[in-house]
Amino acid sequence: MNRRSFLRTAGLATAGAALLPSLAYGWTDLGRDRLRIGFIATGLRGQNHLELMLQRSDVEVVALADPQAHMMEQALELVRKAGKTRPKVYAEGPHDYLRMLERERLDAVFVSSPWEWHRAHGLAALEAKVAVAMEVGGALSVQECWDLVDASERTGTPLMALENVCYRRDVMAVLHMVRQGMFGELVHGQGGYQHDLRGVLFNDGKSPYGKGVEFGAEKGYSESQWRTDHYVKRNGELYPTHGLGPMAVMMDINRGNRLTHLTSMSSKARGLHDYVVRQGGADHPNAQVEFACGDVVTTTIACAHGETILLTHDTSLQRPYNLGFRVQGTRGIWQDFGWGGLDQGHIYFEDSMKHSHRWANTQEILAANDHPLWARYAASAAGAGHGGMDFFVDHAFVECLKRREPFPMDVYDLATWYSITPLSEKSIAEGSAPQQIPDFTRGAWVARAPVFGLNDQY
Ligand SMILES: NC(=O)c1ccc[n+]([C@@H]2O[C@H](COP(=O)([O-])OP(=O)(O)OC[C@H]3O[C@@H](n4cnc5c(N)ncnc54)[C@H](O)[C@@H]3O)[C@@H](O)[C@H]2O)c1
Repeated sequence: MNRRSFLRTAGLATAGAALLPSLAYGWTDLGRDRLRIGFIATGLRGQNHLELMLQRSDVEVVALADPQAHMMEQALELVRKAGKTRPKVYAEGPHDYLRMLERERLDAVFVSSPWEWHRAHGLAALEAKVAVAMEVGGALSVQECWDLVDASERTGTPLMALENVCYRRDVMAVLHMVRQGMFGELVHGQGGYQHDLRGVLFNDGKSPYGKGVEFGAEKGYSESQWRTDHYVKRNGELYPTHGLGPMAVMMDINRGNRLTHLTSMSSKARGLHDYVVRQGGADHPNAQVEFACGDVVTTTIACAHGETILLTHDTSLQRPYNLGFRVQGTRGIWQDFGWGGLDQGHIYFEDSMKHSHRWANTQEILAANDHPLWARYAASAAGAGHGGMDFFVDHAFVECLKRREPFPMDVYDLATWYSITPLSEKSIAEGSAPQQIPDFTRGAWVARAPVFGLNDQY
């Protein structure tokens, strides 16, 4: 089928989208073994994905769009090093990605742009019928989430949420154990983004980490150019998906279960100001900046089947890295305390541990319950970003497209997870008032089956 006749068929096929959305995509123009891939944004995260794509023989990187010359140059250097053909470059300002989408007949595009661009970039790609791999963040409004869902359904074009932490080795081993019933019935989960970002939110404008107290489009570098501004203007759970994604997968959210409502509370904001004063001096102009985002924002979420999920956003104070996962059921409990190694957690099963009321270290039991996907691909993942999990999330995107399988984390998951940000802001602004979480599947969650990590293929 050529692209034109496919587009007509796609329109018909999406008529059933309201019933079983993720299975109803008419987006089937692939049929080839090699995907034509483009990149919207080639900043530091876009470059991680680019490196992984350049290693694959089933992918051709045909075009890159990014208005910042130094980021584009770094991306092109990666292509040169990999010995691949130079992709077309779209670097004529912030809207040149539109020209790329129009001209390049892409099968798929990676979107790794600042959060405030995700809506525009996602919508433009979906409207062009280009499948989207969307980096994580949080929405600016609930409407943004609906817009992505509507566009995906209307165009019959799929979008995958690139939530890499769902693929962390310890997280996947726990998922494997949850599915074997080892934790009994799940009751409560916790997670968060507990990562000292002060050295990312401020820098010297020349390098990304740990030096200087500058931020903003002119004086910052990489994330300090745009991310810090969200902390100046917004008070909420700014980065929900790393903590929520793994819990949502384990609790079958949007697939037999769903998030119903939340409440959020925020502490005072002191960490960023303290950092600026200590690093840059009390006379530095940024010492006058008032930050809206509380240093520790906690959000409690209720699920349709009675579970609760506690999310913590904690990125403005000194602290060691720990996403703070906890999975608790009637028969077992897991709690991680480190950065994701198999030995970085506590675990307890009262039956097998003879009611000792003492934690065991996770190493042995997680190793014995390695997820089949990790068991198969650990060698391929070695060296990939974030302890290997970046390999898996990108691998899933490519393999699902080639096989025309539904993505393990789709547009409904992205919309649900992204919506936590504006809803938490609203809750905090209203004195922690409960906020309803929309059902982006429009009722299909009842019948949708789990798809994440069901096999050792992707
Ligand atoms: N999953 C993870 O582990 C992880 C890690 C880091 C970042 N991220 C996410 O990745 C995204 C990007 O973060 P980053 O660290 O690469 O930031 P970055 O600042 O290094 O890169 C952003 C890039 O977007 C480009 N850009 C801005 N406007 C654009 C436009 N209109 N068209 C095309 N390009 C545009 C910028 O020029 C820049 O090169 C964010 O959503 C962030 O939350 C995820």
